[in-house]
Amino acid sequence: MVHYKELGLVNTGELFPKAMRGGYAIPAFNFNNLEQLQAILAASVETESPVILQVSKGARQYANQTLLQYLAQGAVDVAAQMGCAVPIVLHLDHGDSFELAKSCIETGFSSVMIDGSHLPYEENIALTKKVVDFSHAYDVSVEGELGVLAGVEDEIASLHSHYTKPEEVEDFVTHTGVDSLAISIGTSHGAFKFKVRPGETPPPLRFDILEEVEKRIPGFPIVLHGASSVPQDIVDEINKYGGWLENTAGIPEEQLRRAAQSAVCKINIDSDGRLAVTAAIRKVFHENPEEFDPRKYLGPAREALKKLYTHKIVNVLGSNGKA
Ligand code: G3H
Ligand code: 13P
Ligand code: ZN
Repeated sequence: MVHYKELGLVNTGELFPKAMRGGYAIPAFNFNNLEQLQAILAASVETESPVILQVSKGARQYANQTLLQYLAQGAVDVAAQMGCAVPIVLHLDHGDSFELAKSCIETGFSSVMIDGSHLPYEENIALTKKVVDFSHAYDVSVEGELGVLAGVEDEIASLHSHYTKPEEVEDFVTHTGVDSLAISIGTSHGAFKFKVRPGETPPPLRFDILEEVEKRIPGFPIVLHGASSVPQDIVDEINKYGGWLENTAGIPEEQLRRAAQSAVCKINIDSDGRLAVTAAIRKVFHENPEEFDPRKYLGPAREALKKLYTHKIVNVLGSNGKA
């Protein structure tokens, strides 16, 4: 067992109340390789933002759990060397079982999500509570979820979203003891969030549901998944250099800014990073077809990611200067 405090990581305990009071959200960026981690770290340190390093079940399998533990520990050391020891959380994204959450906690995670949102309500409560009881014994934070987002949540795919029912949230947080709650108010995972024709605007987020949730559990930290904006300029760049992404759509950044000022304390972004990496690599390959040194295409991808994360932190989440 390696406890996260030995690695210099923190849980979400102090971060969320500060974010709530300050009207900003903590970035939760997914990673599964070195360049993504380097970019997240550089953006967070340079903007002096706390950060949640987020790892899905698939990402943990891809990167190797032992390597991940050392990468997270390295991230803490490197942040200090760079001159700003920003608070770093290592979080399991969309955990789907008690065993996975336990294994993550035993290998240094400081926060876990248990996603029982697709289960019948009582089963969601039972699974989430079991994870909370174990996690809290190690001072690890737990995120639960109520309501279902459309799109793919790791291996769980859902065609239709079910908005969170505000009348359930108080009962859920009381009976499970979770530290934060992911809700469904119209975001969705991936780069194809809405079926809209070019030029059409996607439906706005259901801020009425968010407000109703805030009334029922005042001061309780809320999490937004599926919060990529799918920037059209990055999609255009991908298509210009040989890609083929049609009918993409994301969440407008003004709406995320508004959410960050509310009880939403954590905003999850993965797809935008994937798009930025893909555009940068395609550009290098298109312009230099003779290139075969991975540093020559992963380096520009890392730079593009850092620029994207910096933009999100400063202009969307507002967590800069809050480390
Ligand atoms: O919400 C899902 C995240 O984007 C993680 O995706 O399971 O493909 O790593 P993944
Ligand atoms: P996006 O696919 O919108 O980036 O959402 C990521 C996410 O919710 C990870 O849990
Ligand atoms: Zn998610």
